[in-house]
Amino acid sequence: MEFFLDTADVTEVEALLPTGLIDGITTNPTLIAKSGRKWKEVVKEMCALVDGPISVEVAALDYETMIKEGRALAAINEKIAVKVPLTPAGLRVCKELSDDDHMVNVTLCFSPLQALLTAKAGATFVSPFVGRLDDIGINGMDLIKDIQEIYENYPNLCTNVLAASIRHPQHVLEAAKAGADVITLPPKIMRQLYQHPLTDLGIEAFVNDWASTGQTIL
Ligand code: G3P
Repeated sequence: MEFFLDTADVTEVEALLPTGLIDGITTNPTLIAKSGRKWKEVVKEMCALVDGPISVEVAALDYETMIKEGRALAAINEKIAVKVPLTPAGLRVCKELSDDDHMVNVTLCFSPLQALLTAKAGATFVSPFVGRLDDIGINGMDLIKDIQEIYENYPNLCTNVLAASIRHPQHVLEAAKAGADVITLPPKIMRQLYQHPLTDLGIEAFVNDWASTGQTIL
């Protein structure tokens, strides 16, 4: 399972990259707005820092403008996965960019049939939004499972399932059990994955017991 960070905050990327566990980045217009920065500066800094795919979303909704934006984003760096909305125009752009060997991430996926269309359009990633379904009382993880089942029926479909809208570590566990190829994590949740109270208690005991021996390693 690949771990992407779901953030437009470059300082968070710099802080978490040394873990060695970050395989890519996803951004969206809301995260860019939250950063308070110029999108191009953020994207260029991310490209310089991270080795894996960096998803950057188009702004237009109409095909003509969206394809121009998509090509402009793809031209910035080969690491960029052009993020398009799951609409007829978005999937048309997805097909064209994918045919030209650009990575595309189709976002705002809320149904298995939308994911089937996305795979047929040749997307590199489909982003089912787990948390936003949970928010309206629908089990978001069932969507991941349904998509996995459909994609497994057709081995020629090579779109990666990228679990998005992740709200807590339980989502990470369930997405891993469901076999999601990628999960995009808010930095706070990435940090939470390390935590367990028994780890903290164990460390405290080992530190005290080691101190009582009066020995050193180096
Ligand atoms: O980046 C897309 C997705 O992860 C957004 O999550 O929390 O705004 O539903 P959220």
